[in-house]
Amino acid sequence: MIRTAVKASKSYEVLTGSGLLSSSGKIMRELCPGARKLLIVSETRVAPLYLEKVRESAKAQGFEVSEYIFEAGEASKNIGSVSGMWGVCAREGFTRTDLIAALGGGVTGDMAGFAAASFLRGIDVIQIPTSLLAMVDASVGGKTGIDLPEGKNQVGAFWQPVCVIEDTDCLKTLPDGVFTEGMAEVIKYAFIMDIPLYDLLRENASRGIGIRDDAELMERIVGMCVADKADVIMNDEFDNGRRQILNYGHTAGHVIEKKSDFSKPHGICVAKGMGIMIDACVAAGSLTEDEASKMKSLITAYGLPVTDDITPEEAREGAMNDKKKRGNTLSVILVNKIGDAQIVKMTPDEYTSFLRGKRTDDTPL
Ligand SMILES: NC(=O)c1ccc[n+]([C@@H]2O[C@H](COP(=O)([O-])OP(=O)(O)OC[C@H]3O[C@@H](n4cnc5c(N)ncnc54)[C@H](O)[C@@H]3O)[C@@H](O)[C@H]2O)c1
Ligand SMILES: [Zn+2]
Repeated sequence: MIRTAVKASKSYEVLTGSGLLSSSGKIMRELCPGARKLLIVSETRVAPLYLEKVRESAKAQGFEVSEYIFEAGEASKNIGSVSGMWGVCAREGFTRTDLIAALGGGVTGDMAGFAAASFLRGIDVIQIPTSLLAMVDASVGGKTGIDLPEGKNQVGAFWQPVCVIEDTDCLKTLPDGVFTEGMAEVIKYAFIMDIPLYDLLRENASRGIGIRDDAELMERIVGMCVADKADVIMNDEFDNGRRQILNYGHTAGHVIEKKSDFSKPHGICVAKGMGIMIDACVAAGSLTEDEASKMKSLITAYGLPVTDDITPEEAREGAMNDKKKRGNTLSVILVNKIGDAQIVKMTPDEYTSFLRGKRTDDTPL
């Protein structure tokens, strides 16, 4: 098992390893000795696979367990689901010392985290992520929230968990596509800040997503990503500065995601976004052809795409509407050398010409 310390406004540990679900009750008991009640939040795909293990482990430690199971998928990430969670807590008489556990992917973690942040103005939450994306990204860092019909992640709170319990055995049941998507975020960490992770991914590239079934390797990979995320957020918990490097590939990626009306999955769009940034950096002369081709072959080795047909104008317009934009300049995240990201401020015009590269018109990227 790998233990990663996160020191934010609240300090906690991320535990990553095989078989941890069976110890989840014991871990929760040690961290929350005074808690009597526990609400396990999960969804219709994950609950049949893993809920019983967590429930039994918690009951053995004397927790009075309630459950809230919602319909799997992003469409459930709304106030109705959170309100359902609040309702169970209220009816069961939860107090400030009781606890919510989020068992599932990023959708579950974001919503259960938000319910915990807001119920009685804040009760403890334990994150138990089951998807690759949730293990390496969503469960660590304390961002919680829901979608509105008007846009994704529009309402939320920063609410750090008491602990994150990552049982890497859960990855084995992930559908291929969902695992592949998570790999986009893994590769992102390698590019922006982690040469040893890059080397490890490159050494195993010929196995593609077959690495999912290699428990030891996945523990190492997930552990490295968690350490990277912890490192970034410890220095910028509230996302005002360096945390922005985690958005590598995301500015263009979000535009592609939106243009597809969210029919293209997030990880696929991030991979395309990284591909677009790689091409633009080569055209600008800041990234060598050799480095670019290494980066692209890593992305494609894990089954992800590196191109899309949005135009520079579309990319610029979408970026200007991005909720993370501040003022009239864009913070563009560039990787000009594997393992090293930079934040570069650009005006919208500069961004368009950067994306256009050697093009003289608005032909697709
Ligand atoms: N809070 C943050 O910092 C942060 C960061 C990135 C993404 N997010 C959010 O995370 C969400 C995406 O996360 P996600 O990709 O995990 O989505 P998800 O929770 O919808 O899970 C993806 C799919 O995998 C299934 N699944 C999950 N674990 C499984 C397992 N072990 N076995 C079989 N199936 C399993 C789910 O049922 C679902 O169908 C988005 O809502 C996004 O906004 C949050
Ligand atoms: Zn992402």
